[in-house]
Amino acid sequence: MQTDQDQRDKARVNLFPVDETNWRDVAKIEVETFQKNFVAQPLYYLALCNYGKIWHPIAICAESKIIGMLMWAKDDSDGSCWLGGITIDKQSQGFGYGRGAVLKAIDLLAEEHGFRQFALSYHPQNENVRELYRSLGFKPTGEMEDDEIVARLTIEE
Ligand SMILES: CC(C)(COP(=O)(O)OP(=O)(O)OC[C@H]1O[C@@H](n2cnc3c(N)ncnc32)[C@H](O)[C@@H]1OP(=O)(O)O)[C@@H](O)C(=O)NCCC(=O)NCCS
Repeated sequence: MQTDQDQRDKARVNLFPVDETNWRDVAKIEVETFQKNFVAQPLYYLALCNYGKIWHPIAICAESKIIGMLMWAKDDSDGSCWLGGITIDKQSQGFGYGRGAVLKAIDLLAEEHGFRQFALSYHPQNENVRELYRSLGFKPTGEMEDDEIVARLTIEE
């Protein structure tokens, strides 16, 4: 059940596939120095998506410019959708764009691919995202993935 705040946050962002017109803007996204412990560079994620053939990149747009990215991948073992590489440029953080983008990605992926179960992982010291994901309904399951805490969300049909 989404709240009015969820609807407002979602309305402030748009999501686009990463393609030949926007990948350079995605590659320019930068986080604060301390945040580099928690995510790789967008350029690495773009290469991972392109060559690894598992993850799919999405550009996050707000106020008519690219301000972030995220990726998604299907886990064939249980049909869940993993979200990863969620990154908002340091100039655009704290305005609700990260929250809106994750909410919108869940809507989009549920609608276009039929996903009902979502998963993500985060570094135990990344306290900001723990609160962000908790507010979106993701619950830690006790699983760990590459030293990161796994949290999952199941949405209604
Ligand atoms: C995590 C990230 C994507 C959040 O994006 P954002 O647009 O800055 O976040 P929002 O403005 O949507 O904030 C959503 C919630 O996150 C939490 N949050 C965000 N920034 C925070 C901060 N500096 N301190 C505490 N909580 C914070 C809050 O719960 C906030 O909700 P609130 O505004 O109602 O309190 C962004 O900070 C980022 O790119 N960080 C570096 C990369 C990273 O760690 N990615 C996640 C990998 S798992």
